[in-house]
Amino acid sequence: MSRVDPLIGYLKQLAQRGETHVRLDEEARTVLRAYYRAGKARPKQPIRTRGVASLSAGATAVVREEPAPSPTIHTVHAQGTTPAEQLASLQSQAQNWDPARSLGSLRETMVFAVGNPTADLMLVGEAPGYEEERKREPFVGRAGQKLDQILRAMGFQRSDIYISNLCKFRPALKNQTTNNRKPTRQEMDACLPFVRAEIAIVKPKCIVALGATAAEGLLARQDPVGRMRGSWHEFEGIPVRVTYHPSYLLHNEAAVSEKMKVWDDMLTIMDFLEMPISVKQRGFFSGK
Ligand code: URA
Repeated sequence: MSRVDPLIGYLKQLAQRGETHVRLDEEARTVLRAYYRAGKARPKQPIRTRGVASLSAGATAVVREEPAPSPTIHTVHAQGTTPAEQLASLQSQAQNWDPARSLGSLRETMVFAVGNPTADLMLVGEAPGYEEERKREPFVGRAGQKLDQILRAMGFQRSDIYISNLCKFRPALKNQTTNNRKPTRQEMDACLPFVRAEIAIVKPKCIVALGATAAEGLLARQDPVGRMRGSWHEFEGIPVRVTYHPSYLLHNEAAVSEKMKVWDDMLTIMDFLEMPISVKQRGFFSGK
């Protein structure tokens, strides 16, 4: 019996009951995509389809006759008892994470996360860039310095909160030097099981998605930040706020209005976390 036989049996039972669709979470879709790609990579092998399961995401899983490639089911399992140990265990699994590595579009060095393993606040960015890859730490380049400024204004040190990225590898480019690119949805999806596991371990009270790309990876929404900020979203039952990426503030250095919006988002977070807010903090942009 191959490792997928119980799954095939279950799908057949559903089909006999008249079900035509199955709901899959993102992790299952990632696994199936890898399985599907593994099958596609063997074009010479005769393929006789036995059944087709239509998936809600629009993908199609083809069930093959023998000889079927044994699918490699990739699961993230954090070992250890303390949150710090469990995060370290995740980190050691991430380097060789096949769903990400097999895309062939990401660089070698894995950059995991930094900060307090039991933080109330978790920040999620899109992917490491040149500086982050060099130092193997998220947000240590110019955008990171801007982020540190914002955190200090809130009364946080970097070590008080937990900072991670949707994609754990720097997206690759041809003839790449210091230039970076945004991760694709596929690249973020491949690493999403880690972000999910990190959230389950850290149990933050709220999450901030930094920028539209991070929001897309986390919330599966392709909207401008301007439309997503200002209200609460949710990921795995945790409240999520979306704000502008710190690099956007660097590009808009002159635009005080944009900084005000980010600061407003941070005040909302502080209120939510029931942090004391001084008059000076409330009035940062009102000249008080
Ligand atoms: N931008 C991100 O989204 N993440 C980083 O770690 C650095 C820059």
